Amino acid sequence: MLNRYKKAYEKIAMGLLSFMPDEKDLKVLQKTIQKYDSETAWELYLYKQEDDYIGLIGVEKLESELIVRHISVDPSHRGEGLGKQMVQELAELNKAYDIKACQLTEPFIEKCLNEKKEADMPI
Ligand SMILES: CC(C)(COP(=O)(O)OP(=O)(O)OC[C@H]1O[C@@H](n2cnc3c(N)ncnc32)[C@H](O)[C@@H]1OP(=O)(O)O)[C@@H](O)C(=O)NCCC(=O)NCCS
Repeated sequence: MLNRYKKAYEKIAMGLLSFMPDEKDLKVLQKTIQKYDSETAWELYLYKQEDDYIGLIGVEKLESELIVRHISVDPSHRGEGLGKQMVQELAELNKAYDIKACQLTEPFIEKCLNEKKEADMPI
């Protein structure tokens, strides 16, 4: 289940964020988390399963669009459908917005959106 990020979970969030290819440098990582802390348009969610936080999805909220800026799943839980689940929950929590990818998240987000379109298509 997705939970809104709180400062108390900063270390966990930074650990998950660091799986993004462009977030390997500590300074970059600190800047990114600061952005989610300070800019109201930037929203971060953590995916909790039982007692563990094992996924993260971060978005920039525009007027009618949600741009997925970051998405990552703990390596020991990949391939279990959590990435897709997070995108689905994000869409359900933000029904008034269209989900879009940025350049960095495009390969996975486009895959999720295409699969959703196919599933929604009338037979
Ligand atoms: C991308 C990521 C979040 C996917 O999470 P996940 O929980 O393993 O994904 P799911 O189990 O929901 O989906 C798995 C499917 O996505 C595909 N997939 C995994 N990573 C992908 C990627 N970077 N681009 C496109 N497709 C990807 C898998 O091949 C699999 O396809 P299938 O359903 O046809 O077999 C995870 O691999 C990750 O944290 N990667 C590191 C961070 C990253 O690179 N984020 C940006 C991704 S563009």
